[in-house]
Amino acid sequence: MNRPRLRLLAGLLAVLAPAAQAQTARTGTVAKRYAELCANCHGDKLQGAQAPSMLDDSWLVGGDDASIEKSIRTGFPDKGMPAWGNAIPDKEIRAMVIYIREQRELSRRGQLQFNKPADSVTTRSQLHDFQVSTWVGGLKEPFSLAFLKPDLAVVTEKRGHAFLVEKGKLAARPLLGLPVVDTASQAGLFDVLPHPDHARNGWVYFAFSDPRKDAEGKPVSLTRIIRGRIKDGAVVDQETVYQARPEHYLKSGGVHFGGRLAFDRDGFLYFTIGDRGQGPHAQDITRPNGKVHRIHDDGRVPADNPFAKNPEACATIWSYGHRNPQGLAFQPGTGDLFDLEHGPRGGDEVNLVRKGLNYGWPVISYGMNYDGTTLTELTVKEGMEQPLAYWVPSIAPCGANFYAGDLFPKWRDHLFVATLAAQELRRLEVSGGKVVAQEILFKDLGRIRHIVAGPDGALYALLPERVARLAPPSAPGT
Ligand code: HEC
Repeated sequence: MNRPRLRLLAGLLAVLAPAAQAQTARTGTVAKRYAELCANCHGDKLQGAQAPSMLDDSWLVGGDDASIEKSIRTGFPDKGMPAWGNAIPDKEIRAMVIYIREQRELSRRGQLQFNKPADSVTTRSQLHDFQVSTWVGGLKEPFSLAFLKPDLAVVTEKRGHAFLVEKGKLAARPLLGLPVVDTASQAGLFDVLPHPDHARNGWVYFAFSDPRKDAEGKPVSLTRIIRGRIKDGAVVDQETVYQARPEHYLKSGGVHFGGRLAFDRDGFLYFTIGDRGQGPHAQDITRPNGKVHRIHDDGRVPADNPFAKNPEACATIWSYGHRNPQGLAFQPGTGDLFDLEHGPRGGDEVNLVRKGLNYGWPVISYGMNYDGTTLTELTVKEGMEQPLAYWVPSIAPCGANFYAGDLFPKWRDHLFVATLAAQELRRLEVSGGKVVAQEILFKDLGRIRHIVAGPDGALYALLPERVARLAPPSAPGT
C-alpha cells in the first residue's frame, strides 16, 4: 500500500494495536475451551480451517451477539458444526462470544500498521486535520486538567501533586496544602474542577482517595471531595464537600475509585465513586461505592435527590449499579449527563445517566471475568438500564468531555473519550440518546487519562508524562 493511502486509512480507522494487548486476550478459561473444542475446525486463531473463519465479516446467520450465541448453541449438525448447547453451560457461551469479538478486533487491528502522530505532524481524520504537540512536559501520570482562566490551569497527578500551569509553563513546585492522599494501586489524586462561578468565588474542587484508619487501625480509603481557593502557590480556605461515613471506607489501595467531577448548568456538583472491587455494593444504596452522586456546591444534599427521603440510603446517590465510572460529562445543548465506565474483560460502557436509575453492575454486563469465565450471562434485565454503547474488547475509557470550541467546528457537540488500555482518543457522535458514530483520532502515544477542551478551542490530552495539545495545523500557538 502506498503512503498516502496508508495515511488516509490512518485517519479513517484504528491504528496499530500494541502487540502486548494481542497476547493478553488469548488467556483464561474461555481460551482453553476454544482451544479444546473449536480450534480443530475453526483454526487456532479463529482464522478458519475446515470450518469458516470467524475473523472476517461474513456470517452464516448474522454477526450480532444473539445470532452467534445461537450458532454455537444449536450448531449446524448437517454441515458439520456440532450443537454445543449441552457441552457448554449456557452462561459460558456468552463468554465464547466475547472471546470471538476480542479475537476479531485484535486481528482487524493487527492488519493495520500506522504511525503514531509525532509532534507537530499533521494527522488526518474524518472531519478535521489536526496536529498533536507537547504543551506541558515533565509530569507523572497526570489525571486531570482544569482551566481557571485562559492563561492559567491546574493539573493533577495521580501521585498526589497538583501544579499550576501559567501561560503554558509548569510551576516549579506543586501547590501546597493539599491533603495527604492514598496513592497505592489505583488510588490517588483524581479530578480538579473550578466552580462554574470561579471568577467570582475562586472555588476549585479536588477529588482524591482519602486515607484513614479503621477501628482496628488498618489503613482504609475512599473517594473524598474538597474545595479550596488557590493563593500564593497554596490551596487555602479548604472545606470538605463530600466525605463518606467511616464505616464505608474500604481497604486502602485497591481498585475502582471513580473520582470524576462535573457541574450541571444549575450548579449541582456530580461525582463518581467506583465499586472499590466490591461488585454487589454497586446495587446497595446504603453504600456510597459504585454510584454517581449529586450535591450542592457546598456539599449539602439536594432535597430532590432520588433517595434523599430514604433514611437507610446514602442521600447523595443520583444513580447506582456502576462499576468504575472515570468519565463524567454534560452535553452542552441537552444538559444530559454521560458516564464512561470500565467494564471487566469487555463490557466498557457509555451511559446516559438519569436520576435514581440502576445501571446494572454486576447483575448485567457485556463483559466476562479476566480469567475468561463468565461473570453473568445476563446482558439485559428489567429495571436495569442498557448502555448507549459498549466495547468488547475493552478500551478502558477514562476521562471524557464534549467539545464546544471554535477551532474544530465540525467536532462541536461530539464526545471525546480518553482511553487507557487501548491508548486511543475516541470521538463519539451522540444523538437522540444513541451513539451514532465513532472514530479513533490517534493511538499509541500512551495511556490517556483525560481529554479537556481549553478556552482557546484546542483539545488537551493527558498522556503518561505530558499534556499534549490538539490543534488545527495552521492554528496559532502550536
Ligand atoms: C467438527 C468441526 C467444528 C467444530 C469442532 C466447531 N465448529 Fe463451528 N462450525 C463448523 C462448520 C463446518 C461451520 C459452518 C456450518 C455451515 O456452513 O452451515 C461452523 C459454524 C460456526 C459458527 C457460525 C459461523 C458463521 O459464519 O456464522 C460459529 C459461531 C461457530 N461455528 C462457533 C464454534 C465454536 C465456538 C466452536 C467451539 C465450541 C465450534 N464452532 C466448533 C464446524 C465446527
